Amino acid sequence: MIIPERQWETSRLTARPPLESDAEIVFEEYACDPLVTRYMTWQPHRSIGDTLVYLRRCEQVWKDGSAYPWSLWLKETGDLAGFVEIRVGSTSVNVGYALVSRHWRKGLMTEALTAVIELCFSQSSIFRVWATCDIDNIASAKVLEKVGMVKEGVLRRWLVHPNLSDKPRDAYCYSIVR
Ligand SMILES: CC(C)(COP(=O)(O)OP(=O)(O)OC[C@H]1O[C@@H](n2cnc3c(N)ncnc32)[C@H](O)[C@@H]1OP(=O)(O)O)[C@@H](O)C(=O)NCCC(=O)NCCS
Repeated sequence: MIIPERQWETSRLTARPPLESDAEIVFEEYACDPLVTRYMTWQPHRSIGDTLVYLRRCEQVWKDGSAYPWSLWLKETGDLAGFVEIRVGSTSVNVGYALVSRHWRKGLMTEALTAVIELCFSQSSIFRVWATCDIDNIASAKVLEKVGMVKEGVLRRWLVHPNLSDKPRDAYCYSIVR
């Protein structure tokens, strides 16, 4: 079990735990956007109330150690860039992530995930970092390949992505090991 750093940075991003006080910007820039949620397991938020529930959960999971989410912020402008989250097992870490859509295709998630993988492997107990993505989520699959992950196969009927179907869909499983 690891307890990761609360704050870290890359050349263009700073990362810190999400806070309830971020609700307005998170709702407006990110959580209400159907482009962002298309391949996620949740539907676009309809009100700041939905976003507050999400942010309270972020604070709770940091306390109980079931997951460690970070909000990502652009150093240059202070804009919200997105989120990345790790769920820690005894020897492996599962990672999830999403960016504000106007910050897509600038290499930001490749940059953030590279730092997250380094942070995970700096813990001697962690040997595997892995992620899944819907088989149609080309952007996500490309990011995982760019950070050095290897496609292990297809997890059939893995997860419901409610913005696409109410039935579980196939997903790719990617990992990097040491
Ligand atoms: C997936 C996501 C995080 C990618 O982040 P990003 O910062 O835009 O990705 P990067 O800029 O680091 O791009 C990495 C590679 O993917 C490619 N790529 C990015 N978006 C793409 C798209 N829509 N179609 C095809 N390729 C794409 C980039 O061109 C780049 O490859 P290249 O360097 O060879 O050109 C972003 O699209 C996103 O937030 N999507 C919505 C949420 C989501 O699906 N999260 C993942 C759930 S598993």
